[in-house]
Amino acid sequence: MIIQKTENSRLSTFDPNNFSFGNTFSDHMIICEYEDGKWGDVKLVPYGPLLFTPAMMGVNYGQACFEGMKAYKDNDGQVFLFRPEKNFERINKSAKRLAMPEVTEEMFLDGLKALVDTDRNWIPQGEGMSLYIRPLIFATEEALKARVANKYMFAIVATPAKSYYADPVSVKISDHYSRAASGGVGSAKAAGNYAASFYPTQLAMEEGYDQIIWTDDATHEYFEESGTMNVFVRINDTIYTPPTSEKILDGVTRDSFIQLANKRGLDIRVEPIAVQAVLDAHKNGTLKEVWGVGTAVVTTVFKALGHKGEKLQLPSLPDDESYAALLKSDLVNLQNNISEDPFGWRV
Ligand code: COI
Repeated sequence: MIIQKTENSRLSTFDPNNFSFGNTFSDHMIICEYEDGKWGDVKLVPYGPLLFTPAMMGVNYGQACFEGMKAYKDNDGQVFLFRPEKNFERINKSAKRLAMPEVTEEMFLDGLKALVDTDRNWIPQGEGMSLYIRPLIFATEEALKARVANKYMFAIVATPAKSYYADPVSVKISDHYSRAASGGVGSAKAAGNYAASFYPTQLAMEEGYDQIIWTDDATHEYFEESGTMNVFVRINDTIYTPPTSEKILDGVTRDSFIQLANKRGLDIRVEPIAVQAVLDAHKNGTLKEVWGVGTAVVTTVFKALGHKGEKLQLPSLPDDESYAALLKSDLVNLQNNISEDPFGWRV
């Protein structure tokens, strides 16, 4: 790896008590270029802009995918990644679906560790604090023929994070727009999936909602994801989450919640969630909780569900009765080295 450290750290300008997610970047970044059928050297360089032209294929045709992961610092200042091999596997799954070159495990993990180690002072400490890490691959070739590009960049940038949309949110159950389609790219972390979600989300916001619960494109009768998160529903004492598919992202937080719930002996079922079943449960008082999970947010609890013009209020459970709060605290304690790690997830 080629290491070129900055001589002008911006760390003193970063106030860990006053920042917003995703606007401040740590001192360094990882870059690696792909050309002539192979990846070049991985470089750790000062964070900053790169030179590309508007004819770059990645921005014209959307050959771009990314990952979201975090580094945590415990009370003794030790730094941990969480299940980084899952993100490595998924970025390559996304790359493959978008006809982009896969990255090697060495590039991905060594790059990640070098960046986090070099910029460890950028990891804020304390509840809900972390360094959010964004690995990405995008087509850099300057060409406008619509075909697979032959030049790419793999990069990793990092931004201090605290939980965002932490307050309970109102979500609209989509009855028209969908995030993904059968045969599409829903299970890839394709940049374009996010672009396509913004307009329906804007419309939902105009109706007074914060986010959307994405439903299946064919019938809109089944939950798929919510906002940028996987979704969980609790009816009585049973938790449901839809199975992953080519339309549903295989979220690392989702998988961790399922395993943590199983470890606690909770009744958790990976099954399709019918919109009607949720509406019925609301009507008969058995709908206890609905929440979303993702790396960036960890957990967001939903306070209301909108469906075809009706807004259904959800119960507000105290933390000691909420499965969402219980599983979130299990996960966060494990990530921050406060609890044991029986799964071997901390790296
Ligand atoms: C993540 O949770 O890592 C996401 O992908 C959300 C991101 C778009 C902010």
